[in-house]
Amino acid sequence: MSTRNLGRSEFGDPKNTGDLMPLEDAHALLNEWVPNERLRLHMKQVAANMKAWAIEKEGADELKASKWELAGLLHDADWEKYPDDHCRIIVEELERRNIDPEVIHCIASHGPSVFGVEPVSKMDKMIYAIDELSGFIHAAALIRPTLYEGLEVKSVLKRLKSPAFAAQVSREDINDAISRIDTTLEELIQFIIDHQKNIS
Ligand SMILES: [Fe+2]
Repeated sequence: MSTRNLGRSEFGDPKNTGDLMPLEDAHALLNEWVPNERLRLHMKQVAANMKAWAIEKEGADELKASKWELAGLLHDADWEKYPDDHCRIIVEELERRNIDPEVIHCIASHGPSVFGVEPVSKMDKMIYAIDELSGFIHAAALIRPTLYEGLEVKSVLKRLKSPAFAAQVSREDINDAISRIDTTLEELIQFIIDHQKNIS
């Protein structure tokens, strides 16, 4: 069992359902907790993908889209300062701030093999699928002279099959995440390329 296993499956208080924080506050928290610009960009990319997915694929209204976006934006907020307690610190911070329990559960379940929390909702399952793939695709774009321009799904697939490339990205987790949703790996890669290429 990982030392980062959260050891529980209930998060937040149901009476806070619908309560989020202003995006400016979330960005302020990121700026304070995450000096690493590249890690902040990763969270902004995941947030953009999550929000776009909610609106385009789940027909989300404004509140629902904001929940997906907030979960994406803060999912790794404690990673840089508290690597050994990653996830527990941000989960407890959001509980202290009385944030919607669905958002907190989503963050707590974004790495089931590490945090020991199973993704339940569609939002949970999508952050799990989008998170590692988003980082992987960004790594694949960074080594190209034209970055995202002309980046094709097939070249991302090829890199996924090459264990040495971005070796820290778990192919097992990606496959596991994809097996939990009814979207193909190819479709999700294309979606992520389209929605994170202009995020800065
Ligand atoms: Fe992440």
